[in-house]
Amino acid sequence: MQIFIDSANYDEIEHWLAQGVIDGVTTNPSIMFKDGVYDLEAGAHRICKIMGDKRPVSVEVAGNDLDDMICQGRKFASWAPNIVVKIPIVTESGESCLGVINALSREGIAVNATALLSFNQAMLAAKAGAMFVSLFYGRIADEGNDPTVVIRNVRHWLDEWAYAARIIAGSIRAVYDLQGAALAGAHVLTIPPQFLPKMLDHKYTRDTVRQFNSDSAKALEQIAIKTATAT
Ligand code: E4P
Repeated sequence: MQIFIDSANYDEIEHWLAQGVIDGVTTNPSIMFKDGVYDLEAGAHRICKIMGDKRPVSVEVAGNDLDDMICQGRKFASWAPNIVVKIPIVTESGESCLGVINALSREGIAVNATALLSFNQAMLAAKAGAMFVSLFYGRIADEGNDPTVVIRNVRHWLDEWAYAARIIAGSIRAVYDLQGAALAGAHVLTIPPQFLPKMLDHKYTRDTVRQFNSDSAKALEQIAIKTATAT
């Protein structure tokens, strides 16, 4: 299973990459805006440079014009070899973006089909050629559905029919969501940076380490006392 960071914050990306726990980056226009990345091309170049050539970096198209989405996708893909183009499954008015996903995928461009809230959407996106299908865990739960069931069913279907598409669990709202998504069979968790320290730290772990350090210091004191009395 892979972990991506759901962020355009360069410092956070560099920090967690150096910790050895992130395999890729996902962004969307809201994340870019929140993290102060207004120039998409410059921001994408910088993130791709941080991540190196092999780790995927998802950058999302904007607007509702299907031909323009294809143009944006081609342009984004030309920026770096590890760019993955994010295409929403439908436009604001519900028009299908499957043709965009299919056209870009057939050109060899890696596509992340995004804003997926259901099993059926994921099935269609995989069928159209998407490399990643992003199921929005928090938003599925907002709609009153169980995101673990959706992820489990999509994973089962992908495996059963040997589709190459990989599930990204996005829209993470709480640390507990990560466990739910991972155990349900997501191939990738994309984690907002604020949750990574919460996954890592534990008050009782700190207490445990404190106890070990204290006993280690006491043992050294005993050696020093024994050495002093022997001389
Ligand atoms: C990631 O690929 C998604 O764009 C992101 O996780 C969506 O999160 P949100 O539902 O909190 O906007």
